[in-house]
Amino acid sequence: MNHRIKTLSNYIHHYEKSIQDPEAFWGEIASIFQWKKPWKKILSWNFEGPDIKWFDGAQLNITENIFERLLPTHAEKTAILWEPNNPNDKSQKITYQELFHLTCQFSNVLESHGVKKGDRVIIYMPMIPEAAIAMLACARVGAIHSVVFAGFSATALADRINDCKAKMVLTADGNYRGAKNIPVKAVVDEALEKAPSVKKVIVCQRTGETVIMIPDRDIWWHDVMEGQSNQHAAVSMDAEDSLFILYTSGSTGKPKGVVHSTAGYMVYTYYSFLNVFQYNPTDIYWCTADIGWITGHSYIIYGPLLAGATSVMFEGVPTYPHPGRFWEIIDKFKINQFYTAPTAIRALQAYGLDPITPYSLASLTVIGSVGEPINEEAWHWYHTNIGKGKCPLVDTWWQTETGGIMISPLAGITPNKPAHASLPLPGIQPVIVDAEGNELKGNNVEGNLCIAFPWPSIIRTTYGDHKRCKETYFSTYPGMYFTGDGAKRDHDGYFRILGRVDDVINVSGHRMGTAEVENAINEHPKVIESAVVGYPHDIKGQGIYAFVICESSDDIAKLSEEIKDTVRKIIGPIAKPDVVQIVPGLPKTRSGKIMRRILRKVASQDLSNMGDTSTLLNPEVVEEIIKGAQKN
Ligand code: PRX
Repeated sequence: MNHRIKTLSNYIHHYEKSIQDPEAFWGEIASIFQWKKPWKKILSWNFEGPDIKWFDGAQLNITENIFERLLPTHAEKTAILWEPNNPNDKSQKITYQELFHLTCQFSNVLESHGVKKGDRVIIYMPMIPEAAIAMLACARVGAIHSVVFAGFSATALADRINDCKAKMVLTADGNYRGAKNIPVKAVVDEALEKAPSVKKVIVCQRTGETVIMIPDRDIWWHDVMEGQSNQHAAVSMDAEDSLFILYTSGSTGKPKGVVHSTAGYMVYTYYSFLNVFQYNPTDIYWCTADIGWITGHSYIIYGPLLAGATSVMFEGVPTYPHPGRFWEIIDKFKINQFYTAPTAIRALQAYGLDPITPYSLASLTVIGSVGEPINEEAWHWYHTNIGKGKCPLVDTWWQTETGGIMISPLAGITPNKPAHASLPLPGIQPVIVDAEGNELKGNNVEGNLCIAFPWPSIIRTTYGDHKRCKETYFSTYPGMYFTGDGAKRDHDGYFRILGRVDDVINVSGHRMGTAEVENAINEHPKVIESAVVGYPHDIKGQGIYAFVICESSDDIAKLSEEIKDTVRKIIGPIAKPDVVQIVPGLPKTRSGKIMRRILRKVASQDLSNMGDTSTLLNPEVVEEIIKGAQKN
């Protein structure tokens, strides 16, 4: 079987094979990789534990499958094509050979500073090539990397370091983001006051600003790289050894560390990348995500590099120094596959077509979307004006926990249907269930989206708390992985993702737990209680609306700003509420539960049918909240 799907009937054939005999299907794909020791069993699993093992007994190193496996044919090919924040600065081309040498050098650095197999290393870095090198070097020495998005606050960073008891932090002096220069090293310094497990910090010089270097703890990247050998023998990892931890928000307060394993993740990110984007050997591929998110892990670094692709890495933001920046880069590098988020599309759509006209987008063959449901208007705008009506648009549905793309058109193969993630990839068995967990078979059904069978890159555990993994994903509907999303299967059998059905909101493609934001709000000394809900937002998809009870309500404007600022400090700017409404009370049931349904309606200004409020403990409060919202 050639594992590159080329036609729709080919897809159907692959899909059927993957369902009838998953082990044979994945075994054949896995056989292209370099294994230090072969597997004993391709798959053993139960969802009760959960206990899922792919390629058990095998040993490998994922970076050997990027470098040693590919260098004979790819040494001179560009692996990473880096574009700086400022278009007047020089871009960088790093070949597979160069990336290999840099990764080996940095692997030697890590080992010489005491990093061993299984140690946790935090990466809190800008979008610079060193961030990719840092991830790959961790993987090469067997350390578990945990990349923390460099926009998170010191408190959020400290929480993540403490949760996984990381030994080392890799960072930079500053982070150029549009017109801003964010002092990331200073954030690390603040975080480490509350995170004692970290013994060493390696600082990459990017912006050249002055930073405080703490003796015996902080060292410069360029100093320690000097004189290091560019050869390094990769550490042997068991197939199920953890490759990385990535923290993500859920319904409950604290973000959880999603753990991915080595072999299954490797096989699945490679396979899904190749097939969804239909990557050809001379193509230039660009995913605009940040490596702080799963999209950056799977589809800037691991998937593309395992497939021998040229992957573009962009330091900046879509609108700096002008709103045509994305289109300028597509033209500059003659990008073939372009993968971004609906929120970016909507933000750029707002500037009209003028920013696009100076640039040629003729190189594009595939355009992609990820992170949140893409509304039909944005879909058509993207398809018409960026894809020029000729590029297939892959609306890829997946999650941090799934490791790779689960439901998506395969570019040019699956017929496009606006706003539909469409069909599952081979190996993926989605089911739609009703509230009681009964499977809704057939077409034209809507309910909660579950996955009935393991795929190679499924979450293995939540770091340090396996019970939480079970409760969050495998207990709601026993025997199935529950995604937290609602979905519809239409009359053609195509899936449309409807969004989260739990207390998670999706802000600009980023997941935010409402409880997490509430906890941050409640840190403000004047706050008594708060409730956070999502509401439709033109650019962000969903905005954050906070209803807050305060001790005093004088100078409401000032108090609202202070509350927003508290959240910014505790979590980061991405979690800052768009609206804070000070309220006299929150609608509660007799058992004391906040009726979020009502708050969601108020936040969405959908006051037509408030439903039954008579069972509330305090129905009078609803009127007051509505009145307050209208003044807001
Ligand atoms: O609600 C779904 C939404 O994003 C959630 C996963 O967020 P995260 O783990 O941060 O990963 C984002 C990048 C993979 C999902 O539960 N989501 C993601 N992609 C789509 C989507 N919703 C609709 N359509 C998509 N294409």
